[in-house]
Amino acid sequence: MEIFLFRIFLSSLFAVCHSSVYFIDETPGFGRRFDGIGGLSGGSATSKLLIAYPQKQRDEILDILFKPNFAASLQILKVEIGGDSQASDATEASHMHNSSEESYDRGYEWWLMKEAKKRNPNIKLYGLPWAFPGWLGNGTQNPYQNIDQLAEYVRKWVQGAKEFNGLTIDYIGIWNEKLYNIPYIKRLRQVLDENLLTETMIVAADLNGDQNLASHIIADPELNNAIFGIGLHYPATNTTVEQLRTGKPIWASEDYSTFNNNTGGACWARILNQNYVNGFITGTIAWNLIDSYYTGLPWDRDSLMTAREPWSGYYQVESPIWVTAHTTQFVYLGWVYLRHGSGVGFLENGGSYVTMTTDESINNDFALIIETMTQEHSACIRPPLPYYPVAPQNVTFVLKGKFRDTFGSLNVWYTKLGFNGEQSTFFKQLKPVTVTNDKFSLSLELNEIWTITNAGDGNHGITPTPPPSKPFPLPYRENFEEYVDDSEAYYFAQQCGVYEIVTVEKPYNKVMRQTILQAPIVWCESAALTNKTLNLIGATNWTDIYIETDARVNHDNGTSGVFLAGRVNNAGCTSYAAWGIFFFIQPAHQTFSVSSDLQMTNVLVTSRKSTSISNEWNKISLLISKTYSIGMVNGEQLFNITIRSSVPAQGFVALGTQDFESADFDNVNITNIQDGVDRLKQLQDQRLYFHGSN
Ligand SMILES: *[C@@H]1O[C@H](CO)[C@@H](O)[C@H](O)[C@H]1NC(C)=O
Ligand SMILES: *[C@@H]1O[C@H](CO)[C@@H](O)[C@H](O)[C@H]1NC(C)=O
Ligand SMILES: *[C@@H]1O[C@H](CO)[C@@H](O)[C@H](O)[C@H]1NC(C)=O
Ligand SMILES: *[C@@H]1O[C@H](CO)[C@@H](O)[C@H](O)[C@H]1NC(C)=O
Ligand SMILES: *[C@@H]1O[C@H](CO)[C@@H](O)[C@H](O)[C@H]1NC(C)=O
Ligand SMILES: *[C@@H]1O[C@H](CO)[C@@H](O)[C@H](O)[C@H]1NC(C)=O
Ligand SMILES: *[C@@H]1O[C@H](CO)[C@@H](O)[C@H](O)[C@H]1NC(C)=O
Ligand SMILES: *[C@@H]1O[C@H](CO)[C@@H](O)[C@H](O)[C@H]1NC(C)=O
Ligand SMILES: *[C@@H]1O[C@H](CO)[C@@H](O)[C@H](O)[C@H]1NC(C)=O
Ligand SMILES: *[C@@H]1O[C@H](CO)[C@@H](O)[C@H](O)[C@H]1NC(C)=O
Repeated sequence: MEIFLFRIFLSSLFAVCHSSVYFIDETPGFGRRFDGIGGLSGGSATSKLLIAYPQKQRDEILDILFKPNFAASLQILKVEIGGDSQASDATEASHMHNSSEESYDRGYEWWLMKEAKKRNPNIKLYGLPWAFPGWLGNGTQNPYQNIDQLAEYVRKWVQGAKEFNGLTIDYIGIWNEKLYNIPYIKRLRQVLDENLLTETMIVAADLNGDQNLASHIIADPELNNAIFGIGLHYPATNTTVEQLRTGKPIWASEDYSTFNNNTGGACWARILNQNYVNGFITGTIAWNLIDSYYTGLPWDRDSLMTAREPWSGYYQVESPIWVTAHTTQFVYLGWVYLRHGSGVGFLENGGSYVTMTTDESINNDFALIIETMTQEHSACIRPPLPYYPVAPQNVTFVLKGKFRDTFGSLNVWYTKLGFNGEQSTFFKQLKPVTVTNDKFSLSLELNEIWTITNAGDGNHGITPTPPPSKPFPLPYRENFEEYVDDSEAYYFAQQCGVYEIVTVEKPYNKVMRQTILQAPIVWCESAALTNKTLNLIGATNWTDIYIETDARVNHDNGTSGVFLAGRVNNAGCTSYAAWGIFFFIQPAHQTFSVSSDLQMTNVLVTSRKSTSISNEWNKISLLISKTYSIGMVNGEQLFNITIRSSVPAQGFVALGTQDFESADFDNVNITNIQDGVDRLKQLQDQRLYFHGSN
């Protein structure tokens, strides 16, 4: 701290002799409008475990993300419009599983949007589909089969947000990282307008590169009118001449996706500034908002922060949160950038600076954000970052135009991302910098972020230390009685299929039902194209475990089955390739089988009949020890097999269905192997008691 003050002091004394000079001046005119910094929940299921947190920690986390002048103070929340399909870390439910039903209570994105709005009524909301329910494809993987129907489907989501959740959707996208369709974009605009949803703007097309969208916009006035802004993914801070010629706002509508240690923070700091300096990009959205998905799922911690232990309440605030604060706590939506060369640019010895202000000549509020990220520490996950040099440097900023003759000193907020054992400092207020003759000077070192502003409302929000980290607690028991219909069970992470709470007959009452009856239009293959559904729970490092559930297949005409599994080692877009121990039963046939893969190709127990299997509810147990595995249905032990080398050493517990079919699960019980052995004995005794010994 002393060192920094000393450096500022020294550099202000000797500034002129040792410094490169930059200007902050609106007289040459303003640059583009600043559209905000955001986070993306979904794409998919990245916030799954957040809603399950104890209220206290949940509120702390939500404050860290959304509360103005507290921490990240995000200005845009982008969410997935669930499409009943896997899109990275689990499946999010569609608001219309089939053409004749609708629900605006599913999942957790509505909840998250409401919590964000509660904290910041000015936050902008942005919805985008990754996948679509199968009926929209009419038997194909193409959602544009019937563009009226698709536009209506998206329109209903926007309307449902308003009518059932009190949310205005500000921006709507097309189809994440897939084909766009020009007639559909025009039709969507019409349908929104016809339904008086004119405030919802279309951002297109959420692709890697714009795939000629900009030239279509220039050539087609109707398309030009339909589209508000261009959304690019991972643009590497670059835009094309064509994109700029459209005159549309250009956003990095998905960016970052980098492990959230200091390297991730440095990536984020670099792109937040350089997206504008290099590409005139005015909005940047991080995938993803928060790692609230199980450890062991893909894209570990590629998030602004981490909160994936609802059972303990433990969470981690990571450097990207404080990097974000450097802009969002001082720059408001609707402010404008200054022009390149008069407030925006690259620094002479590496790094960059941007200045934002209001476009009123009488209002001289401004914020200058400087970053000096080095190439070796600030690469994002993609694309590769070409080498560039950065060196410590002294800089002098000269205030001109409306910023002249007003400031004796300016507030200073500072971050240092430490590498190789260096100390880190996150979003700390330093002593104000003195302005002398409309000049101030700073001495910049490597991997620093500085915000210089006349605003006084920055705040390094403080939350209590969260409770300590703990593994997933056993025994786990769930009878779903506490859930409302259509909601999702907190700890189940559906990798394929959609599992929702429904009310059935007593004594089961609330059960968890697989509800998808047709393969969706997928974003990534997952298990979907193999017609299996898969719902994970627990921990990726479970080895010895006991799992029990009641299950039935609805309307079973002999084609369907359910399974229980352990040591499941694959999830996300490759969940179709999951291995483990999979215990399938086909109730209508009274058959069962065991395989070491979800595809049932690597058979451990070939299909057999058992009269213990009922075509109604079955109590199914699977015990997995180090060396053997036992399966039981309704108290009858069906197998005790030696574990073969094809079975992974560890993995999640799972349940699922053999096809896209309606199946119910209740009274899920997961416990350790000792209790499991006792439990099998107990179930066997009960059976003998009821059925008599043979
Ligand atoms: C749509 O789903 C609802 C609720 O599951 C069901 O009652 C209805 O029969 C389904 N309609 C069609 C056309 O599949
Ligand atoms: C669905 O496809 C079938 C033939 O594959 C066609 O006859 C039918 O009109 C299509 N339905 C819609 C709504 O597009
Ligand atoms: C971005 O532009 C820079 C030059 O401005 C270039 O070196 C780099 O290769 C470009 N990156 C991509 C991914 O186009
Ligand atoms: C951050 O994590 C990434 C990925 O694990 C690693 O390559 C990088 O070295 C880490 N950076 C720091 C500063 O630990
Ligand atoms: C910055 O200025 C200080 C004091 O004027 C000087 O000691 C230092 O060498 C300068 N640093 C650089 C990188 O020029
Ligand atoms: C699994 O990993 C967690 C967290 O790393 C650890 O606390 C727990 O003991 C591990 N469990 C097993 C069975 O190895
Ligand atoms: C999935 O189900 C569909 C419709 O029943 C069928 O056409 C397809 O062959 C099935 N795919 C697999 C891999 O079983
Ligand atoms: C089984 O039931 C499903 C759904 O009711 C139906 O689509 C299918 O044709 C039936 N299959 C047989 C073999 O009856
Ligand atoms: C299952 O098999 C293992 C080893 O093959 C044996 O130790 C164990 O007692 C058996 N358990 C039951 C309940 O059959
Ligand atoms: C779960 O297992 C425990 C211990 O093995 C047993 O006491 C309990 O009754 C089981 N719960 C259910 C709902 O089956």
